[in-house]
Amino acid sequence: MFKNEPIPTFHLQNELQSEELLAVIFEYMGKITAETDLDKLLKILADLGKSLVLADRCAVWLHNSETHQLWTIVAHGIERVMIPDKSGFIGHSFSTGESIIVEDAYEDARFNEAIDRSTGYRTKSVLCIPFRNSDGVVIGAFQAINKMTVSEIFTQRDMEILTLAASYSGKSLESSILRNELIETQREMIETMGEIGESRSQETGNHVKRVARYSFELAKLAGLSDSEASLLKLASPMHDIGKVAIPDTILLKPGPLTKDEFELMKTHTTIGFNVFRHSNRPLLRTAAIISHEHHEKWDGTGYPNGLKENEIHIFGRITAIADVFDALSSDRVYKKAWSIEAIMIYLLEQRGKHFDPSLIDLFFENIDTFINIRHKYGERR
Ligand code: C2E
Ligand code: SIN
Ligand code: SIN
Ligand code: SIN
Ligand code: FE
Ligand code: FE
Repeated sequence: MFKNEPIPTFHLQNELQSEELLAVIFEYMGKITAETDLDKLLKILADLGKSLVLADRCAVWLHNSETHQLWTIVAHGIERVMIPDKSGFIGHSFSTGESIIVEDAYEDARFNEAIDRSTGYRTKSVLCIPFRNSDGVVIGAFQAINKMTVSEIFTQRDMEILTLAASYSGKSLESSILRNELIETQREMIETMGEIGESRSQETGNHVKRVARYSFELAKLAGLSDSEASLLKLASPMHDIGKVAIPDTILLKPGPLTKDEFELMKTHTTIGFNVFRHSNRPLLRTAAIISHEHHEKWDGTGYPNGLKENEIHIFGRITAIADVFDALSSDRVYKKAWSIEAIMIYLLEQRGKHFDPSLIDLFFENIDTFINIRHKYGERR
């Protein structure tokens, strides 16, 4: 039994003096404010807790209200550990909102031995401190394990120090969690929408990925900032979302479209634009622009508005090249894929007609990049 195993021999330390504590806090404050990645933030906070109270281990646990679990990142790596939110000391501290100090975990009925059994680590002393968001709701807890001083137990002072760290952490974590959730929500939404478009026009997921990557590379080459290029990459899978409103008889027609059919097909641009036009979110505004303008042409002969040259948003001019390059590279219900030579001749021939000439130049100067993406995300049918 673990209970009888010797506890690890620690490098015993002396309690920190006040000025040493301050030094630790200042060192970490900079790191915490600079970190926007939630997983990394959890590790930084755990390191802070460990340094402040001289624990052998420290973990920051966060609550997931959908699964009723508490989760954390294990010390080395990105693996998440989850426990039921009523389990163990940490669950107790979370659900009661109380801090707890335990001298010997194995003498305490609240202890959940499962983690020790799976890690082979021997827990003795424990300190748990809940932390709250700005509405005062408990959102997680700090857990320090095994005090590394001669006494081997956490003190009232440790509790006060870690409570201070927890009140600061709660606020940084809250904004990071919100940010994280927003990004996740957006990503899910985009994937769902992309899938709707795909399943309707019977194209594979790789089509969407390739158009996203071609657009990103072209945006970077055109000198757009990282954040603009990333927005374009995220939004470009939605360029054809308006096709969901086009009847199958047209969308899946194996041969050429009649004039009337093509007129209806053209409305996929304005339909997509109308889906996103009312949003103020940068991502959806980008999607609105791309949906609307990806079939405009440099010489003014495109649709729906016959915009020309720089009247067409740079996002639209970039997606036009990415979309046609990919459409020509792929089998469609109405045509076979073209050879790379035929595609290159066509793109050059359309330089300054369909496409922005300077973007076409950048495309050809970096043709290897685009051909690599095409191979990497090629079709396996
Ligand atoms: P898509 O299949 O994603 O094609 C996007 C764009 O790639 C086309 O926009 C066009 O600029 C270019 N493209 C694709 N295939 C060819 C081709 O064989 N030759 C040339 N020169 N360009 C090509 P476009 O023409 O505005 O078409 C928009 C959408 O309308 C297409 O998206 C497709 O869904 C549909 N569509 C266009 N032509 C036909 C057709 O003949 N039959 C059917 N069933 N659908 C078509
Ligand atoms: C932890 O979950 O923070 C570590 C628990 C342990 O290894 O006993
Ligand atoms: C807890 O019981 O506090 C959670 C993990 C552990 O067993 O140390
Ligand atoms: C889509 O983006 O899933 C529609 C396919 C296309 O671009 O033609
Ligand atoms: Fe389109
Ligand atoms: Fe397309």
